[in-house]
Amino acid sequence: MKIGLSKIRERNPYILFNKWFESASKKEISDPNAISLSTVDSKGQPNVRIVLMKSFNEDGLTFFTNSNSSKGKEIESNTNIAACFYWKSIEKQVRIRGKVRKISAKDSDEYFSSRDRNSRIGAWASLQSKALKNRSELEKRFNSISKKYKNKEIPRPSHWGGFLIKPVEIEFWHNKPYRLHERAVFKFKKGKWVKSFLYP
Ligand SMILES: Cc1cc2nc3c(=O)[nH]c(=O)nc-3n(C[C@H](O)[C@H](O)[C@H](O)COP(=O)(O)O)c2cc1C
Repeated sequence: MKIGLSKIRERNPYILFNKWFESASKKEISDPNAISLSTVDSKGQPNVRIVLMKSFNEDGLTFFTNSNSSKGKEIESNTNIAACFYWKSIEKQVRIRGKVRKISAKDSDEYFSSRDRNSRIGAWASLQSKALKNRSELEKRFNSISKKYKNKEIPRPSHWGGFLIKPVEIEFWHNKPYRLHERAVFKFKKGKWVKSFLYP
């Protein structure tokens, strides 16, 4: 049986990521930018949740969150992360391992000010990952912040902002018949990306 040559010919993982992300953006029903982001807690126990990638370039991938949240605290004490995209519509997966750091306050401000007013209020109202007694507690917080900033600009909370995932390893996985999937992994070594292939 002939299983074909590899179609993954790029040497730069960002060019390939861009191509795959563009095709996922055309086909996924929703949120092609959804990433499973894994952090590690103080006991070494991994934790995972979805966040939305808001931009990417050769510096890395950006998402926004509350730095007082569980993930925020985990990142503060351990900057190692793993992340994964799965695009069912194009039968592709991208896995990332690397480190994460905060983006500049100016870049966080810029993105925060582009969000709709209620989402900006929400960022103040939510004590993300803290225990909530009931929904009305959250509603009260939302309404009182809404009142406080009535007819005023809403500043970015200092605990809310952008984080940059800086990959050191990116794996591209493409579904193929008979579980003979294609896997190409790029590792950043001595200032350049080195590509190899893996058994499925
Ligand atoms: C589709 C989707 C997109 C999400 N996007 C974000 C996001 O961009 N930032 C964020 O903080 N939480 C986002 N969440 C919520 C997180 O998955 C998670 O519930 C929240 O950040 C709290 O996680 P933590 O307690 O581990 O910090 C998203 C959830 C889903 C399902």
